[in-house]
Amino acid sequence: MDIDKIKKSFLEEIEKVKNIQGLERLRIKYLGRQKGHLTQILRSLKDRTVEERQKVGPLANALRKEIEELLDKKSTDLKAKTYNLKANLDITRPGLKPKTGHFHLLTQVERQIRQIFTSMNFSVVEGPEIEDEFHNFDALNIPKDHPARDCWNTLWLKNPKFQIPNSKLLLRTHTSPVQIRYMETHQPPFQIIVPGKVFRYEATDASHETNFYQIEGLIVAESVSLANFKFVVEEFFKKFFGKNIEFRFRPSYFPFVEPGLEVDIKLKKEWLEVIGAGMVHPKVFKAVNYNPYELTGFAFGLGLERLAMIKYNVPDIRLFHSGDLRFIKQF
Ligand code: DAH
Repeated sequence: MDIDKIKKSFLEEIEKVKNIQGLERLRIKYLGRQKGHLTQILRSLKDRTVEERQKVGPLANALRKEIEELLDKKSTDLKAKTYNLKANLDITRPGLKPKTGHFHLLTQVERQIRQIFTSMNFSVVEGPEIEDEFHNFDALNIPKDHPARDCWNTLWLKNPKFQIPNSKLLLRTHTSPVQIRYMETHQPPFQIIVPGKVFRYEATDASHETNFYQIEGLIVAESVSLANFKFVVEEFFKKFFGKNIEFRFRPSYFPFVEPGLEVDIKLKKEWLEVIGAGMVHPKVFKAVNYNPYELTGFAFGLGLERLAMIKYNVPDIRLFHSGDLRFIKQF
């Protein structure tokens, strides 16, 4: 092949190259050490006459330089092209938001609730998830034969290593025992909320879980009344739902309060029960050595999942702990 033909076919072929691998094949075809078309010509120079050498030599060297430059340029073009494809680099497009994690819906709702109560001067207190019978039941005026104490609702701990004489250990069935723990170590007046995990030995369905969260509230002072509680509840709903919510107090029974009541809210013409509450029972004050003739208090307990379900239209409580990212990413 003579130099002109080599140049011509190289120029044709480089046009058709689509990727870096193809370009490398082309380089070997023309400049490869063993069989490259141009290499062969350069190598054969030594066998030629002086005249031929002087004529062909500079031409061949010039072509080698040209081919090298063209290969370099093509390589740069190809690399830029694949980079652009990969990065989808269209500078007129809006930027992509980097993926970051976020808080679980329950954490978000718990934070909202903490924030609302701390804005009303409540302190946030926590207590143990493993409780003894005294704090979970006795001190809360739940007698030995109360149905909540039987094995159908309570998860009892068996390991004798941790047993305290005369008091069996259990996973707390509600956050109310923290009322007792707090009163044992503090003097009124105070107002606290207690967020935390609770456990029930129960069948699960769309509105029941064996493991869920509650937020307990307790105010104790010389003279508090249900009127104060009504203010707190009203303020809470207004801030949590972002609007005035119709609610009602309905008489109910909990052993640790007297009178006891439930708070219902009206949503889409339906009454939904959301809070259990009442005035602290004198026997509860006695259990912590408070004088029931001098002190008053009200207590309340709400279910975190339930409030989250109402506010964010979640149809099934089991979704919260399912670990299903399709659910979690929606909030
Ligand atoms: N501990 C109750 C439960 O788990 C909820 C509750 C009701 C808490 C009334 C209270 C209260 O503090 O006054 O169902």
